[in-house]
Amino acid sequence: MITIKTDAEIALMRESGRLTKEVLDLIGSKIRVGMTTKDLDKIAYEYITSCGAYPSFLGYSGYPASICASVDDMVVHGIPSEEQVIKDGQIVSIDVGVEYNGWQGDAARTFMVGNVSEEKKKLVNVTKECFFKAIENLKDGTPLGDIGYAVQTHAEANGFSVVRALVGHGIGTEMHEDPNVPNYGKKGTGIRLKKGMVIAIEPMINAGVYQVDFMADGWGVRTRDRKPSAHYENTVAITENGVEILTL
Ligand code: MF3
Ligand code: CO
Repeated sequence: MITIKTDAEIALMRESGRLTKEVLDLIGSKIRVGMTTKDLDKIAYEYITSCGAYPSFLGYSGYPASICASVDDMVVHGIPSEEQVIKDGQIVSIDVGVEYNGWQGDAARTFMVGNVSEEKKKLVNVTKECFFKAIENLKDGTPLGDIGYAVQTHAEANGFSVVRALVGHGIGTEMHEDPNVPNYGKKGTGIRLKKGMVIAIEPMINAGVYQVDFMADGWGVRTRDRKPSAHYENTVAITENGVEILTL
């Protein structure tokens, strides 16, 4: 069931969205070679709880941390670890969810640490561009398939591939609500988006093949060819004439 949010509910989601963005900005300002992904998780946990909010991932289906930290060939859902030291040239995707006053925010950024290769730079930039292509013409009445079409077209035009095994999603009082929001698809297909729907659009783009492997820890997802992958996500509300990005 797709829920339609009232203006008052979207105002509340704006608050959880703002906190979500603030966590990512904070991590972006602190991330350095030599830190561990667990250090980043602690920064997120401390900040979120100090705001009187809750890190939505923590305990979600038993997930053990406040963020996902996915380095290089890890696509998403990397579990932060004290053993995982961030090295020069790595790309680190940070995904975080914040629950505040009963409403969820969900967003991700991929940070480039130190001297990253030209290929990784291009991958990170194109992944972010895929998100903005997806929202370019989005408004009340747009078919859902237009999002995936825009993401896939831009990624593939740049020689990259789109992860199929994981998708974006509706969001509200629950982190994952209907509908699914794939990053691939055909223009003009699917349900029509409506004013008051709120969705997380999250391109996951691979430098090589689109296939992924699921790790034995039950969470981590890696590219099958172990080439790098990037992730960029925002929570967006559909409005009459466009969208409002709640986590930017
Ligand atoms: N943020 C992820 C998503 O966009 C969910 C992470 S799963 C969790 O769907 F267990 F870490 F929460
Ligand atoms: Co999400």
